[in-house]
Amino acid sequence: MTDLSPPRKGASESEIVAFVAAVIARATLAEKVAMMSGKGFFELYREGGGVWGAHPYPAGSGVERFSVPPLYFTDGPRGVARGQSTCFPCTMARGASFDPDLEYRIGQVMGIEARAQGCNLSGAVCINLLRHPAWGRAQETYGEDSWHLGVMGAALGTGIQVHNVIATVKHFALNSMENARFRVNVRIDERVLHEIYLPHFKYVLDAGVASVMSAYNKVNGEYCGQNRYLLSDVLRAEWGFDGFVHSDWIRGVYQPYGAAAGLDIENPEPMVFGPKLLSAVEAGTIEPEVIDRACRRILLTQYRYAAAEDPLVDYPLSLVASPEHCALACEAAEKSAVLLENDGILPLTRDSVKKLAVLGRLADCKNTGDNGSSRVHAPYCITPLSGLQCYLGEDAILTAAEDDLDGARRAALAADAVVVVAGYTYEDEGEYIPADVVTQVPRASTPVRNAPLGGDRTLLELPYEQQQLIEVVAATGKPVIVVIVAGSAVLVESWRGKVAAILQTFYAGMEGGTALARLLFGDVSPSGKLPFTVACHADHYPFFDREADEIEYDYWHGYAKFDRDAIAPRYGFGHGLSYTKFTYRALRARRLGTDIEVSVAVHNVGERGAAEVAQFYVGFPPGALERPIKVLRGFSRVSLQPGQVRVVRVRISLDTLRWRDPARHSWRFEHGCYRIMAGGSSQQLIETSIVL
Ligand code: BGC
Repeated sequence: MTDLSPPRKGASESEIVAFVAAVIARATLAEKVAMMSGKGFFELYREGGGVWGAHPYPAGSGVERFSVPPLYFTDGPRGVARGQSTCFPCTMARGASFDPDLEYRIGQVMGIEARAQGCNLSGAVCINLLRHPAWGRAQETYGEDSWHLGVMGAALGTGIQVHNVIATVKHFALNSMENARFRVNVRIDERVLHEIYLPHFKYVLDAGVASVMSAYNKVNGEYCGQNRYLLSDVLRAEWGFDGFVHSDWIRGVYQPYGAAAGLDIENPEPMVFGPKLLSAVEAGTIEPEVIDRACRRILLTQYRYAAAEDPLVDYPLSLVASPEHCALACEAAEKSAVLLENDGILPLTRDSVKKLAVLGRLADCKNTGDNGSSRVHAPYCITPLSGLQCYLGEDAILTAAEDDLDGARRAALAADAVVVVAGYTYEDEGEYIPADVVTQVPRASTPVRNAPLGGDRTLLELPYEQQQLIEVVAATGKPVIVVIVAGSAVLVESWRGKVAAILQTFYAGMEGGTALARLLFGDVSPSGKLPFTVACHADHYPFFDREADEIEYDYWHGYAKFDRDAIAPRYGFGHGLSYTKFTYRALRARRLGTDIEVSVAVHNVGERGAAEVAQFYVGFPPGALERPIKVLRGFSRVSLQPGQVRVVRVRISLDTLRWRDPARHSWRFEHGCYRIMAGGSSQQLIETSIVL
């Protein structure tokens, strides 16, 4: 028993601080070290029959003697990876929505559903930068641009935290390859690290996200989970982050010195931060203050969230996948589909399309993304086929078996239009869990998660059989609409000229099929924009080797690389067509203190109401310093009725335009004439300038 009562709801900051200080003063060293790891995961995992998320997983903290409970972890990011939760479109899809308000609302739903299922730590905020489209977990992040990653990740994380679930941003840092993630050493110089790969993490933490998950890979020779430069020098000393850092799962830290480097919790079991860490402190190789500091960070964060008032009176299980939450999944799917091409066939009309052929292996596949940690077992999933059947009536839909090309041809010939659903599944891309992780599980009778599947893509094009199917149905002369389901870019060169329209829906979540029907038939106009660049040729992307032990990340990837190399992409970053047309005019930029205020008038000159994502880019003064031709520094999603004009305004902080001077290890601002650009795609911009 104890005379120390943990702070309850409504406790003040000084009560929390006093409680934390008392726990640290009175807990034994062993109790404190025990707070620095998750515990019981292997047992719970077995008990749950090998189903990931069958239990909330204790993930650090917890001192029984003082009634301090552990933190309970659940995963994301396409929903809560526990029970039968709402399954949203994957993160990359939501990246294409360019809609932080939507993402904030999705975060709140994830917070509610985590709470309702006994969890208070969420691993849903994944913001690793998409350096190359083959990355197996591309679907879990928002895209290739650091600014956009920061804004979207901050919206999700702060949304989750509304319901007093601590959000963790992952994977810190440079985790943009999958198969080699446990071993690859990413070499990177200071400018590239700070200007390209880290700013989005800082953005999300500055917005208030309270926890960080370290990555598996090495950066400049040291594993991220024990990398002093990343975890202490940058995160704490330079950025002032005062929350806790926990490791990625199972191989997140190798040596007790990880604690001194700045890792506070090893998850999910004390493989290193258990007896090994305790002995290191007893032997004097780790200072006791390192342990106290970690416990302070963990407990302060935990109790600040535990004590804050909840927006809801309670969090019953009935809130999980409620009709309102499922409707939000549908809204997200509608706002994230990107119309890549349209010769005018879309939107379809019921009058002209009496019969629709719906073909392809993925047409009736409950394909919400990979089978790794982000998997969500939704209570139901509307496939493209079932969505279209429901919309048009079953009699209006013609299908054929996936390997029956003759049947597909016949269906196409009998239809007024053809939809081919093409792309990937968890077998082609996703989290890679190698079989030997299983051997690390003591007494495991069931393997951890699944046999190795997914991983980095080996293909950037559609699988051969799908290309063949497209060719066969296109040869009938019927208009063909290809729906691409994938986590990132798919090269379309070989067949794009033969089809009437291409719509990329990504993994569209449990309501994807409903949204697809509404998009194709014009109940809603597509409004998503590509959060990455689609190349004409694979060689136009940076070097990628999924088996690499070592790789260098240089300054150039994404649209900045295409700009520098003067290579035209097939579809540029920010591209996405609509059923209406928008024009831009009256672009203005003025200095306002330490910001630039930029405004532009967006005009819907078409016949339909629709949303547009206005994008704002900045170009740097010419000089000796090599910098991108342009960088995204603002975006705003606006809905406009036909004929309507709205002036859209963003503020760009001058700090976000600085460069990192490696000689001084600090930031510098270049004075001169800056280009300010705005438009509906990185490839179609109007321009002004400002002297700063
Ligand atoms: C993944 C993390 C995930 C963790 C827990 C790891 O394998 O890399 O993203 O949060 O497992 O499921």
